[in-house]
Amino acid sequence: MLKRIIYRSHIADHVGGTEIREISSHAKAANSAVGIQGALIAINRYFYQVLEGDEALLTPLLSKIQADQRHFEFMVLQDTPIEASKFDGWDMTLIMSPSPDLETCVAQINEAFDNQETSATVQARLCEGLVYIILGAVDAKAVSF
Ligand SMILES: Cc1cc2nc3c(=O)[nH]c(=O)nc-3n(C[C@H](O)[C@H](O)[C@H](O)COP(=O)(O)O)c2cc1C
Repeated sequence: MLKRIIYRSHIADHVGGTEIREISSHAKAANSAVGIQGALIAINRYFYQVLEGDEALLTPLLSKIQADQRHFEFMVLQDTPIEASKFDGWDMTLIMSPSPDLETCVAQINEAFDNQETSATVQARLCEGLVYIILGAVDAKAVSF
């Protein structure tokens, strides 16, 4: 089954731009070899990663990522079946210079997921919004490679 998983985590203190680029290059190479698509965002000491692919591959990858010491407080924001990947050809693009829309969106996501009272529907809508804003961010040239 094809799935999309989005998570958020805190970037560990010892991790800077060089390490983030290393994580990104590893993810690009390893994921494209097995057909996993998505994007990695690093903003304000948070990672947000979108991963789309076969569930049988995503589940073990996610466990490996979660155990990685370069981030902590890993929280799954969305885990949903999808019909097709929206990130075909994205090659795990790294976004480190967010557009204003993306900054606003992740701030709303943080608020919604850190507040226990936010409904699951609102949380799901914000995740869908994040996907569309990421897809638009490329056009806005807010991507760093
Ligand atoms: C924020 C973050 C995102 C990551 N994303 C991926 C990824 O998409 N694909 C991947 O193979 N490894 C990713 N990694 C690295 C894994 O945690 C792990 O180090 C790597 O998969 C180990 O590869 P190996 O088993 O080939 O040594 C990520 C790590 C971090 C901290």
